[in-house]
Amino acid sequence: MSKAQTSILISGAASGIGRATAICLAKEGVALTLFDRNASAMAEVESACRNRGAAVIASAGDASLDTDVAAAVSRAVKAHGFLSGVVAAAGIARKGDVTTLTDETWEITLAVNLTGPFLLARHAVPHLLRNPSSAFVAVSSDSGVRGSRGYAAYSASKHGVVGLIRCMALDHGPQGLRSNVVCPSFVDTPMADGLLKESGGGYDRAFYERRVPLGRFARPDEVADAIDHLLSPQAGYANGMVYMLDGGTTAGTFG
Ligand SMILES: NC(=O)c1ccc[n+]([C@@H]2O[C@H](COP(=O)([O-])OP(=O)(O)OC[C@H]3O[C@@H](n4cnc5c(N)ncnc54)[C@H](O)[C@@H]3O)[C@@H](O)[C@H]2O)c1
Repeated sequence: MSKAQTSILISGAASGIGRATAICLAKEGVALTLFDRNASAMAEVESACRNRGAAVIASAGDASLDTDVAAAVSRAVKAHGFLSGVVAAAGIARKGDVTTLTDETWEITLAVNLTGPFLLARHAVPHLLRNPSSAFVAVSSDSGVRGSRGYAAYSASKHGVVGLIRCMALDHGPQGLRSNVVCPSFVDTPMADGLLKESGGGYDRAFYERRVPLGRFARPDEVADAIDHLLSPQAGYANGMVYMLDGGTTAGTFG
């Protein structure tokens, strides 16, 4: 299937990795549906995609709410005629260990980061299965395969995403849907800025960069390129893959 025959919905499209993915796919002529709770930031991404020649619509809503997700999927199918791919990138990071996390922080983190991709899958998969070649890509994290000190809810939610995608690969691979998950370490986005601001005690950017064998954070466009590949026919045999896009951070002990 060529890119021009591709219709992809992206959650978290207003910022960071979701935004970079939208711009990357727009340049290739993919029909896009942007989904984010931040309508004004999403409007800027929508025009950036349109300026690059893409057929694009935006659907504002909350990724943790079934009705909002259902509406976004249904708008995608109505506007573009079909849906062949989904990128679940919306996410939040909240600090806390098990003794300090409030019920509210635990619940919202799980709701956005784990229930969100589940709801997208629930509503999108029936449409994806109508295409001969379709793909679902979720954005987890290096915290989805190992713990992160002080981020118990975040790490638990991201481990959950890896499990969800592995089950989708088994359940829907036989029906032609490929499901994969990207696990970046630090990426230069507003989320990373926020995490650095709230971490004190010498845990600054230089500290975290020293722990990456490649010595730097990822750029959002590098993550977008990996997602683009997983969505494409060039990744036609990738299913259930946990793609560690982390500069070697989880390859072993380093630094
Ligand atoms: N930046 C990093 O260092 C990093 C590292 C590993 C994984 N990730 C993951 O990558 C994904 C994208 O993060 P980012 O760095 O681009 O962050 P970001 O904050 O730049 O963008 C996240 C987007 O998700 C949207 N969003 C948040 N909650 C939402 C909700 N309930 N409903 C709809 N939209 C919502 C926000 O409005 C925002 O546009 C997240 O899942 C994050 O956990 C980020």
